[in-house]
Amino acid sequence: LTATGSSRRSFLRGAGLIIAGTTAAITGMPRVADAASTMWPSGSPTPPLSAVPQSAGRIAFNASGVAAAGSQTALEFLDGRTGAVSQPLVRARVRLIGDMHFGFASRDRLAAVADDVATMGAPDAFLTTGDETHFGLQEEYDLAEAWFSRFKVPMHTVTGNHTFWNASSRTMEDAADLYRRFVIRWGQPMPFAWEMAGVSFVGVGPTTMGVTPQEASLSVAEIAHMGKVLSYEPTKPTVLVMHSPLQHTVLGDDLGATCSYTSEDTGFYQRNTAAILDVLGANPQVAMVISGHTHSPLHATGLYKMVSVGDRMVPHFNAMAVPFLRRITATGPTGPQSLVTWELGIGDRSIVLVGRDHLLRRDVARVVVPLPALQAAPSPVSPNLTLPPIV
Ligand SMILES: [Fe+2]
Repeated sequence: LTATGSSRRSFLRGAGLIIAGTTAAITGMPRVADAASTMWPSGSPTPPLSAVPQSAGRIAFNASGVAAAGSQTALEFLDGRTGAVSQPLVRARVRLIGDMHFGFASRDRLAAVADDVATMGAPDAFLTTGDETHFGLQEEYDLAEAWFSRFKVPMHTVTGNHTFWNASSRTMEDAADLYRRFVIRWGQPMPFAWEMAGVSFVGVGPTTMGVTPQEASLSVAEIAHMGKVLSYEPTKPTVLVMHSPLQHTVLGDDLGATCSYTSEDTGFYQRNTAAILDVLGANPQVAMVISGHTHSPLHATGLYKMVSVGDRMVPHFNAMAVPFLRRITATGPTGPQSLVTWELGIGDRSIVLVGRDHLLRRDVARVVVPLPALQAAPSPVSPNLTLPPIV
């Protein structure tokens, strides 16, 4: 497959659909690229800067301070605070949800997230970190589709290890087809690249099962592809999304590392972390990296961590998970379970990340992620780019 788009923007907007069309041709599936392109816009125009409607229970923070806050190196926890209602000025709100595991997560917890998000007003888009389904089954995808359909906004995700973790004897191709059919419903197959309020989002997940079912590392080839995708928007602030965290990022909390999966556990970090850091070093437009996979608790050390990349620091954030936040032992999940998802409020010069506890129905943490100030550079000439198949 060769992408020959004449502009970087058209490449970004079309990359996912190109993959969808190609894999459809390979597997004999009906072509769905056209249907997907009419379902949701692949890129969203930048809306005017405006205040987001207020909603009850929101923590106050100064709108003008959003852009001036600069880089934070740690999450600010908002425990006990119930400040006056106020919102920063943002261009768009993206609801970030960690691993959702439809088919495994309790319906009560999933409903609690949906109901609370509905009271806050639908976001402009959803972004998840992969593992929408627990075993990649059609009935699990049906549950996910019903959940997201409530909001009538785009949903973007990446593959996770559970995309390919089949309880049955189905093949990787079968699992990939089910995943593809699910994400095409929302218009963004994997790997994806889309734009929201002047920020590019690039998501890359594994394209097949890893060495073990827990493994969700990107291969060297997938990382190289990710670098090529990033190279087409060198002057646009970019959020990079991947299922597995980088190594040495998110750890445990004060309940002890053995209560939580961490980026030190085998299968729970990117095997090729060094290669990914090299890509980040070559792409200063990457404002932050978002991961899932470890189902980390809110107070996990390194949930938000600054990672050294050459002469700069890049925020690395783990989005937690819906079904549980602890290791599963023989007697079930251990430890208490909070239920937090995150709003990415995209402003002029920053993204404000606000954690929302949907059981408490209040904001519990936030951090301001500055967007890199990038100078316009000559556009690289787009070479013919061979995109890898999903499997
Ligand atoms: Fe997961």
